[in-house]
Amino acid sequence: MNSKILKILRKKNKSPLVCLTAYSKNISKILDKYCDIVLVGDSLGNVLYGMTNTHKVTVEMMIKHASSVMLGIKKSLCVVDMPKNSYKNLYEAKKNARKIIRTTRCDAVKIENHKKNYSLIKNLVKSNIQVMGHIGYTPQYKKKFKVEGKTKKEESKLIKEAKKIQDAGAFSIVLECISSKTSSRITKELKIPTIGIGSSKNCDGQILVTDDILGLSGFYPKFVKKYIKLDKIIEKNIQKYRKEVINKLFPKNINSY
Ligand code: KIV
Repeated sequence: MNSKILKILRKKNKSPLVCLTAYSKNISKILDKYCDIVLVGDSLGNVLYGMTNTHKVTVEMMIKHASSVMLGIKKSLCVVDMPKNSYKNLYEAKKNARKIIRTTRCDAVKIENHKKNYSLIKNLVKSNIQVMGHIGYTPQYKKKFKVEGKTKKEESKLIKEAKKIQDAGAFSIVLECISSKTSSRITKELKIPTIGIGSSKNCDGQILVTDDILGLSGFYPKFVKKYIKLDKIIEKNIQKYRKEVINKLFPKNINSY
């Protein structure tokens, strides 16, 4: 197991894991200084490519963005999402996970949970491919957004799923939009760290989409805290640039050769 992953595992019950998404080097080189995990999420389909969901994101898209992200990474753990159509069976999963890891030099892949995933994760881990799981609201498989784990039945189903993913060998697991009580139970019952998104402070770490917290994506559900309205700041400065170009105030001599 790589030393970056051991570092993540050791933080359970000690220090909350700080995680964010990145799709390019300019962002990853900043995140690298402050994050334990940088995720190249397939959310790039929505955030960058204007897709209505993540279903058509390809391995090639993930590789292109992950390669850029890796240029900015020195110390944090880089995880890359396996897009929906890349792990239909074990052969495809192994081939694509290896391709993503070999080409980008990232540390691990993330796989959203659906019925047949446990043996797939087990086989990938056996082949030395590190896997992060993902349960709760899994955009690759669920059409409608819904908070999960509010009923006893949902709670025990989610705990079972999380344990199966742990037993398959995953080193951590994303809990997306799971009720506080169920997130707390899962976190207590697992040995591996849980990373929450919309799943309360009861998880071992937190992840959000960086474009959301910067106010760039236009997607702000309740679980997102918008730390800055970067869209407004960018707009103001673009207006300033436009004005200066039109009024011949830019470029000045200092900007010319
Ligand atoms: O695709 C993504 O960005 C994700 C995170 C939001 C967990 O899966």
